[in-house]
Amino acid sequence: MLELMGDWQRSSYCGTLRANDVDSEVTLMGWVQSRRDHGGVIFVDLRDRNGIAQIVFSPEHNVEIHTTGDKLRDEWVIAVKGKVAKRTDETINPGLPTGEIEVVADELKILNTSQVIPFLIEDEINVDELLRLKHRYLDLRRNVMKDNIVLRHKISSATRKYLDSNNFLEIETPYLTKSTPEGARDFLVPSRLNPSEFYALPQSPQILKQTLMISGFDKYYQIVRCFRDEDLRADRQPEFTQIDMEMSFVEEEDVISVVEKMIKAIIKETKGIEIGHDFKRMPYHEAVMRYGTDRPDTRFGLELQDISDVFRNSEFKVFKGALDKGGIIKALNLKGKADTLTRKEIDGLTDYALTLGAKGLAWIKVQNGEWQSPIIKFFSDNEKTDLQKVLGLEDGDIAFFGADSSYIVNLVLSNVRLKMGEKLGLIDKNKYEFLWIVDFPLFEFDSQEKRYISIHHPFTSPKDIDLDIIEESPEKVKSKAYDIVLNGVEIGGGSIRIHRKDIQEKVFKLIGLDENEAKEKFGFLLEALEYGAPPHGGIALGLDRLVMLLSGSESIRDVIAFPKTQKGSCPLTGAPSGVDTEQLIELGINTINKED
Ligand code: AMO
Ligand code: AMP
Repeated sequence: MLELMGDWQRSSYCGTLRANDVDSEVTLMGWVQSRRDHGGVIFVDLRDRNGIAQIVFSPEHNVEIHTTGDKLRDEWVIAVKGKVAKRTDETINPGLPTGEIEVVADELKILNTSQVIPFLIEDEINVDELLRLKHRYLDLRRNVMKDNIVLRHKISSATRKYLDSNNFLEIETPYLTKSTPEGARDFLVPSRLNPSEFYALPQSPQILKQTLMISGFDKYYQIVRCFRDEDLRADRQPEFTQIDMEMSFVEEEDVISVVEKMIKAIIKETKGIEIGHDFKRMPYHEAVMRYGTDRPDTRFGLELQDISDVFRNSEFKVFKGALDKGGIIKALNLKGKADTLTRKEIDGLTDYALTLGAKGLAWIKVQNGEWQSPIIKFFSDNEKTDLQKVLGLEDGDIAFFGADSSYIVNLVLSNVRLKMGEKLGLIDKNKYEFLWIVDFPLFEFDSQEKRYISIHHPFTSPKDIDLDIIEESPEKVKSKAYDIVLNGVEIGGGSIRIHRKDIQEKVFKLIGLDENEAKEKFGFLLEALEYGAPPHGGIALGLDRLVMLLSGSESIRDVIAFPKTQKGSCPLTGAPSGVDTEQLIELGINTINKED
């Protein structure tokens, strides 16, 4: 039954055929999406990358092919020669781009058959993601997935077009390299030729792109894979792609301006949307104060309010305890929403807060002039009056409270805010809210490690005016870093870099790297900085996240052809997997069982 293609050549994609192709002879090749028998006439929806065309096998037209057409089953691969015909008025399908025509089959070749598929090749399917990933080739046949992959290509290609026309050079950097610190664990690769030594896969090309600036390639880019061994989430993969850029003789404004123009060009080219205004900007401290996070979703309001001052002399042990330990109290007032949340939902929200590390989630409901709350009995009249004023509490409101370290309070309430924004339908899904976060602190103090750590990476430059205080008050130093946030997702981050050895050495020292460690880890950079390093800076955008947001996907895995699961495995190939003992011996590696 199976035939070879022979000298047949495809003349068109199925999805391109229109009414003005009527009467033309075409050769189509693709997959059987479905087969229907209508009173002895067989109708096949033939699908290829471009769309679907209806093929008709009619016994009156050709008995032999009708017999073969009758045998076709879903996902078989066929080649059809036939004539494009106009459909009768009553059979026109306005829902299909090719709905005005059909192809009357004259010749048919069955090129391959298919097993019964484990899930339907349709947009809306309700199957376990593991099954989709195991049969990824089938999953990628679905329109939604195919569209994501095509959009991804268009975004990369619009990026290249913009950067090429702005004089950027695409330069590759190695994957087998030395550790680059971006705050995650490294993936290590053993070196056979150098026993007991390892390459690290790059967490980003950070140091090498800086080195390229020292070489004089003053505008660099690369659409590059990065590798980070960290806990995975809906917007995180162990290997992901960056649009990575670096420029010389620039300041923050220059990088921000180039990137903003590039993003606008990408959106215009791929979505047809023209963004006429400048992206908004917000200092880091303001973002954390108002939204509890440095990547706020500004498509809706519902801001947090710091109410620590109201409770400075509180008798309520939860609030007093938090403030005594140097913590804060913040509140989130859902105006007019007291009725929309049942007691069960409030308890559910409290449980959610507990999973994030909160000790509880206090609340106050105002209904019919009365305050209902498990904590109200602990408040003085003054505290009630002040709280009402600060929060603007009115009849119909419900407010939630967090009291703890500022880290926990912000983490919990920023997430409660997102959950409520979603539940109450406050988020306009058609909006693109870009936001630059600027004026980050250079360091934060890590109380566990008892040392300063870089908020971005240690190559980020301090602001010029803070250079003098870097040693005596590191916590007060602001950096020349900027992040770009889209609808509450960090889609990129970068900075102006340190280009002077003396300043770089000071920063290494402040984050606890002594001279020897600094030399061992980044000696080549320190040395290169001695040979005429120009002022420079750049950014990296997360391509996968950008595609996820522009395609409206829920998960980063839906915009990557072959992604990893949350546990870092690939159900299709079975990676990671064990290796032969010989391979280990060759590499000089002995594995240990961690459980023993
Ligand atoms: P950063 O670490 O902020 O900066 O990374 C840049 C952007 O890459 C994306 N991203 C990820 N996407 C998917 N999965 C991950 N695991 C993941 N990690 C990061 C995010 C992020 O904003 N070298 C610096 C850039 C620079 O300073 O020029 C860097 O890598 O969208
Ligand atoms: P308790 O006194 O522990 O029963 O708590 C009284 C109320 O305060 C409950 O509604 C708790 O959910 C809430 N609560 C407890 N600890 C905190 C906290 N750290 N922040 C906010 N609310 C809390």
